[in-house]
Amino acid sequence: MKLSTRNLLGIRDLTKEDITLILDTAAQFKEVLQRPVKKVPSLRDVTIVNLFFENSTRTRMSFELAEKRLSADTLNFSASSSSTKKGETLLDTVNNILSMKVDMVVMRHSASGAPHFLAKHIPAAIVNAGDGINEHPTQALLEALSIQERFGRNLEGRKVAILGDISHSRVAMSDMYLLTKMGAEVTIAGPPTLIPKYLTDAFDVRVEYDIKKALQWCDVANVLRIQLERLDQPLFSSLREYNLQYGVNRKLLESLGKEITIMHPGPINRGVELDSDVADGPCSIILPEVENGVAVRMAVLYLLADRNN
Ligand code: CP
Repeated sequence: MKLSTRNLLGIRDLTKEDITLILDTAAQFKEVLQRPVKKVPSLRDVTIVNLFFENSTRTRMSFELAEKRLSADTLNFSASSSSTKKGETLLDTVNNILSMKVDMVVMRHSASGAPHFLAKHIPAAIVNAGDGINEHPTQALLEALSIQERFGRNLEGRKVAILGDISHSRVAMSDMYLLTKMGAEVTIAGPPTLIPKYLTDAFDVRVEYDIKKALQWCDVANVLRIQLERLDQPLFSSLREYNLQYGVNRKLLESLGKEITIMHPGPINRGVELDSDVADGPCSIILPEVENGVAVRMAVLYLLADRNN
């Protein structure tokens, strides 16, 4: 089977079959990553550039590791030390890199739609590693793999709550596309000022403003960071009050009368959306999610290389 798309710009463009193919392939790569020799020759002679115009720890390192595990040649580009600082455009930058015979581009950019713009102008396959407040497709895929590992391969009917700053979250957008396509039930919860009004028209999701009710309903909660760097005006009174009303802590989880699983895409604002007693506690699968990021990114790169062959 092959993917229906030659780029991974967003979960919005994927079919249910594409998502299943990526997750099943990732599960196979996860087995490879448990072996003493973790490297396979699948992408030998493929060259991939990692273009990061915005900060990243998890995504950037796991793409690089995934490329190395697949035996690809990799180039790393960091905007802060590049000629973009001298005024070079995104398209000129990428065309210059592609002239060095690069096959695939992994790109993170603060502008929503930047990878979609590039896809219209360059022949290389593009993987979106997060664009502005639009999408972060590989994050949603690694979260789906993590839910499958906890609850089984079928995501249909699984109850997932997505909590916090939905308005500024590309993870929430990709999650909503993925989970609803796969038949999961989704509740969005958080302060009314951080939840877009259009949401229930665009997606088959419920909205809940009481965080405890959302947690009581769900099997798994994805707790999102307040995207402080994207807030140009205050949308809640203070971080302290946000934590009191919407923060997830052990006392709150103990009051639910049931066990739920806690995810977080990282980086965590400890003591704001999530307290350390939960982030580091037994309900948390935050670090296993990061581990799954390598297998998911291996699957995406492998399948796109196959699709574009
Ligand atoms: N989850 C995520 O995108 O983390 P980074 O910003 O560290 O890549």
